[in-house]
Amino acid sequence: MNCRVHGLDLATVFWSTFLLTFLYGIDAKIMSRSVTTDELTRQALRRTTRQWRCKLTPQYQQQAAHHWMQHLLQLPEWIASHHVALYWPQQGEMNPLDLLSAAFSKTKRFYLPVLHPWKVGHLLFTPYDINTPTVLNRFGIPEPISPLRNRLPPWCLDLVITPLVCFDEQGTRLGMGGGYYDRTFAFIRRSLHKTKLIGAAYEAQKVAPLITNTWDIPLHSVITDQKIYRCRQNQKR
Ligand SMILES: Nc1ncnc2c1ncn2[C@@H]1O[C@H](COP(=O)(O)OP(=O)(O)OP(=O)(O)O)[C@@H](O)[C@H]1O
Ligand SMILES: [Mg+2]
Repeated sequence: MNCRVHGLDLATVFWSTFLLTFLYGIDAKIMSRSVTTDELTRQALRRTTRQWRCKLTPQYQQQAAHHWMQHLLQLPEWIASHHVALYWPQQGEMNPLDLLSAAFSKTKRFYLPVLHPWKVGHLLFTPYDINTPTVLNRFGIPEPISPLRNRLPPWCLDLVITPLVCFDEQGTRLGMGGGYYDRTFAFIRRSLHKTKLIGAAYEAQKVAPLITNTWDIPLHSVITDQKIYRCRQNQKR
């Protein structure tokens, strides 16, 4: 009797283990597949949005940039800012460079991102106006030529006009995939610095809620050619 019970127990243990391994195996497969699918979705979103943006006519881009700027000018954070980072638009990105016009350069100082000379994957910010000479970096993006001592660390900026490929209403940002902005502004998470990231985009770059990675730094607001998105949960920072 004991032996049969013992035998039954062994069989139960065997089948339970088998079942658990089988189920866990499926679960693990589903989980790893969902991670892959998410990354594939991000890559597909990047590809299709960048293709769409490259086809925009110069007239459309110019008009959108004009509307975009009108929205930004209403933002209290813009009005209060002194040190503002812009970016050099690539492949149809929303163009923020009209902000360099004389009307603002009296009250604000503008900067463009440059690759950090030794901290790989990080950015520094160099003062820029329309007369500053530039040189192409290794990605073919113009960077202002300026002595190293003039470069500003990211925490000295008030406002960072941030390029993006896609965004959602919560302020999650999908960039080009290099992690440059996430690394450079990671300090925002753990400090009381006042630096605010303001996404710049066309309305069509808005997508359904994106999955947030642990390293993603959320945007404070997003400005498009049609609307201002205040990303509420990120406003407390
Ligand atoms: N703070 C960080 N420390 C280390 N690695 C990071 C950090 N932030 C991002 N990364 C790395 O950068 C890679 C790209 O990140 P992600 O896909 O979020 O890029 P992105 O935000 O679209 O890019 P970008 O900011 O350059 O436009 C990730 O695989 C991640 O490992
Ligand atoms: Mg990111």
